[in-house]
Amino acid sequence: MTVNGKRIVLALLLCLGVGITEGRGDVFNVDRELYPYYPSLVKWNKSSAEFTEPQTCAGCHPQQFEEWTGSIHALAFQDPVYQGELALGVQAVGHNISRQCEGCHSAAGVVTGEVKGPGLKGLSPMAMAGVSCDICHSVSGVTHWETPSHEPENGSMILTPGVETLEGTVLIKRGPFAPEEGCGGGFHECEESSLHLRADLCASCHQVYHFEHHYPLESTYLEWKHGPYAQKGILCQDCHMVDSQTFERTADTFEKPQRSDYHHFFNGANYLIYYLARGAAEKSGDAELMKNLDQKYQMAVNRLKGAAALEIKPIYQNGSLQEVLVRVKNMRAGHNLPTSLTNIRQMWLEVTVKDGKGKVLMTSGTLDKDGHLAENTRIFNSEGADPHFHFVVNPWEITSFSKHDTIPPRGYKDVYYGAAGLVKEGNLVFSAKLRYRQADQKIAEKLLAAVPEGVDLEKTYGLTQVPALPVVDMALGEAQISVRQ
Ligand code: HEC
Ligand code: HEC
Ligand code: HEC
Ligand code: HEC
Ligand code: HEC
Repeated sequence: MTVNGKRIVLALLLCLGVGITEGRGDVFNVDRELYPYYPSLVKWNKSSAEFTEPQTCAGCHPQQFEEWTGSIHALAFQDPVYQGELALGVQAVGHNISRQCEGCHSAAGVVTGEVKGPGLKGLSPMAMAGVSCDICHSVSGVTHWETPSHEPENGSMILTPGVETLEGTVLIKRGPFAPEEGCGGGFHECEESSLHLRADLCASCHQVYHFEHHYPLESTYLEWKHGPYAQKGILCQDCHMVDSQTFERTADTFEKPQRSDYHHFFNGANYLIYYLARGAAEKSGDAELMKNLDQKYQMAVNRLKGAAALEIKPIYQNGSLQEVLVRVKNMRAGHNLPTSLTNIRQMWLEVTVKDGKGKVLMTSGTLDKDGHLAENTRIFNSEGADPHFHFVVNPWEITSFSKHDTIPPRGYKDVYYGAAGLVKEGNLVFSAKLRYRQADQKIAEKLLAAVPEGVDLEKTYGLTQVPALPVVDMALGEAQISVRQ
């Protein structure tokens, strides 16, 4: 009996062991034939039709080209912050990971095999152009439901820049309209594509998963899909392919922009990259590009300033002030606020409490002289954990979040500050600021210090050191609060 009992336990354990390994495979199966560029899930219908660099499209589509130039999509591959992080990732876990990154940051470079890791040396204008015209307008389909996570992830789109016909190679560009006679000017054929009028076009790249474990590190698309804007048919394009005023109106009224309102700005929150690129334009003496980047910088700052609002409310107990509540509201972001690189980006509350005479009684969330935030700062972010649930920052190490504290679209988070006994009588002046920057000063320095050979921060960007990262005040609030009810 005991012997049998032991056997049964052993057999059970063996079953469990097998179950666990097989189970993991079942959850995230990778179809290597479907995804030849794994860990990127981008696909290419290879033919003699080549990708076309944006400068060629510019000849016939000057307005779209001008709007896209200087955009984050245009900078996605050359971005020194990206190049620095890519170099660190390759050093840490080997070369395989670079395909994953490049499948989104330079998809054409990956499928043609031209981009082979960090660095810009010897690359064609098409590879350097990042998320360019002929990436989006060659997308002929997506494989969102066949991916290992059965969700859009890591570039799960199909690129078909053209086809071979009996008459030779034909380039096909897909867009929102039913083509009219002469569409493409003899250079390309046109195809009406409903995909370009859906958020699925953006989803492949705006869902970033861990390169092996398929953990969603960035979930902009799913946050949007599970929120109120998707319910009312307001797409990524409706906020990010329009000017600032149209974006605000769309977000407030849930009414779609007019057909003629769409532009190729792809403007979000990352003003720092425009600031760096402006330095490069200044170095190379390109006044027009400087003006373009100044405008995009301002547009990103305005977008951040329009995204959130603060409310301040005293809380009394037995007639005396106990706490002050600060409600932080996501007013106009179509996804969580902030949404991506949430373990790096910093959006935090800075609070100052003064007495009636202006004497400071309490502060929280102020930056010290080295540009760091105090431990107890209320920050809306996520914290990464490795497979042993230890705190980590690098995206190739993060396989779960131990904290994920961002604000859903049209939602809010409440923060309570203890305020009992700060003064005996009279009023407090309570002021709060919601502040934003791209990263902690040290992290920015680490990433920029890692740029690969051939990216020269001083020669190209005019940087001898990493400047103090600019901070944007997204929302302000102030209230006079009586300490007695
Ligand atoms: C699924 C597509 C996708 C993959 C794969 C991907 N990225 Fe990105 N990456 C993005 C998007 C989208 C953003 C923009 C997010 C934002 O700015 O809020 C981004 C932003 C970044 C940034 C911030 C740039 C800046 O200027 O602040 C860095 C750094 C970066 N990625 C590095 C990497 C590295 C390294 C890898 C591979 C390990 C990688 N990415 C893989 C889509 C991707
Ligand atoms: C990130 C994806 C993306 C990139 C990059 C991109 N486009 Fe588009 N483009 C779109 C989408 C989406 C639309 C449809 C917008 C709408 O609803 O009208 C569009 C529309 C167009 C149209 C139809 C007219 C119009 O402006 O709405 C043309 C022409 C066009 N794009 C050309 C270009 C050119 C040229 C470039 C490069 C300089 C470019 N696109 C880069 C996504 C992209
Ligand atoms: C020789 C001129 C010429 C070149 C070069 C050219 N196009 Fe076009 N394209 C046109 C014309 C003409 C139309 C139809 C009118 C319009 O939308 O401007 C058009 C239409 C489009 C449309 C709208 C299609 C639709 O059905 O909604 C897209 C998208 C587009 N082009 C993308 C591109 C991209 C991307 C490139 C570069 C790879 C490019 N074009 C290069 C002439 C050109
Ligand atoms: C081929 C991949 C790809 C596609 C498709 C794509 N994006 Fe992006 N997008 C990126 C990458 C990569 C970045 C970040 C580049 C960087 O920071 O270096 C980015 C950045 C952005 C940003 C700027 C974020 C910031 O922090 O300011 C916005 C806004 C954006 N994308 C919107 C869109 C929209 C809207 C669509 C669909 C019409 C779209 N993207 C389609 C790859 C893509
Ligand atoms: C209702 C308007 C709205 C819609 C819809 C919307 N966004 Fe945004 N988006 C914003 C605002 C406002 C910001 C700036 C605040 C922020 O950082 O979230 C932003 C920021 C971003 C950023 C960079 C900011 C960050 O937090 O890192 C990316 C990337 C982005 N959006 C992509 C997308 C994509 C992809 C979609 C569709 C799946 C989308 N957005 C839908 C309004 C919108």
